[in-house]
Amino acid sequence: MQFLGFGLGLRTPHYDYVLEHQPPVDWFEIISEDYLGLAGRSRYYLDAIKEHYPLVMHGVSMSLGSADPLDKHYLKQLKALADHVNPPWFSDHLCWTGVHGKNMHDLLPLPYTDEAIRQVSEKVRQAQDYLQRPMLLENVSSYITYEDSAMTEWDFYRAVCEEADCLMLLDVNNIYVSAFNHDFDAMDYLLAIDKKRVQQFHIAGHDNCGNHIVDTHDHPVIDPVWDLYQAACQRFGPVSTMIERDANIPEFPELFAELQQAKKIATPFWEEVIA
Ligand SMILES: [Fe+2]
Repeated sequence: MQFLGFGLGLRTPHYDYVLEHQPPVDWFEIISEDYLGLAGRSRYYLDAIKEHYPLVMHGVSMSLGSADPLDKHYLKQLKALADHVNPPWFSDHLCWTGVHGKNMHDLLPLPYTDEAIRQVSEKVRQAQDYLQRPMLLENVSSYITYEDSAMTEWDFYRAVCEEADCLMLLDVNNIYVSAFNHDFDAMDYLLAIDKKRVQQFHIAGHDNCGNHIVDTHDHPVIDPVWDLYQAACQRFGPVSTMIERDANIPEFPELFAELQQAKKIATPFWEEVIA
């Protein structure tokens, strides 16, 4: 599997800094929806930055978990973007985001059932076939449990990826958040995941409200999430890693320092690929 190294989410406030300083980040992840249509200011920066860095595409609105068919217009735009950016992979979430063409702009969890496994995996296959590139499926944070769920989240996630024959974008913070909210052991989750499918890690901060955690991506990564990342580094071997920050975005050097912390944690386990 391709190891890209240590990356960051490309965010608008950092465009000029990245172009001017060309910081030694190995790669960037773009939010696909920010660039659909390929026009205007974002297109200018996208083209300028892709001259210097590998880019991967991360989507937030494919709504793989809804019973609706995939949105053909969205897929067409996504493919045009992929053909332009030429990323080694694209990703989206194991969730639903709306029904009847309405997007709720939230990553909503699914009931963990055989029916959902069939529905989601079929749509992942369709998306991979259409875009002609590997798709990574990301685990989401969750705040509710469905009475219909017949298995654990990790068994469901693993089964969907096997059935779809797709790779995984394992969000370590999301595992921590869901483990807190649903009172399970995050290590049980990590140990159940098939090593050969994990292609990318996300790490992020969150908002701890006392009796539950909200996955806000607006804080630095906390120590227990770093600990879980360390366990993931040990278990899965070299996996392309990035830090997600979507709100309360600090100056670029602060995020870069956080990324260096990830690299420091991973280095003892991945010496063969880290220079
Ligand atoms: Fe994530």
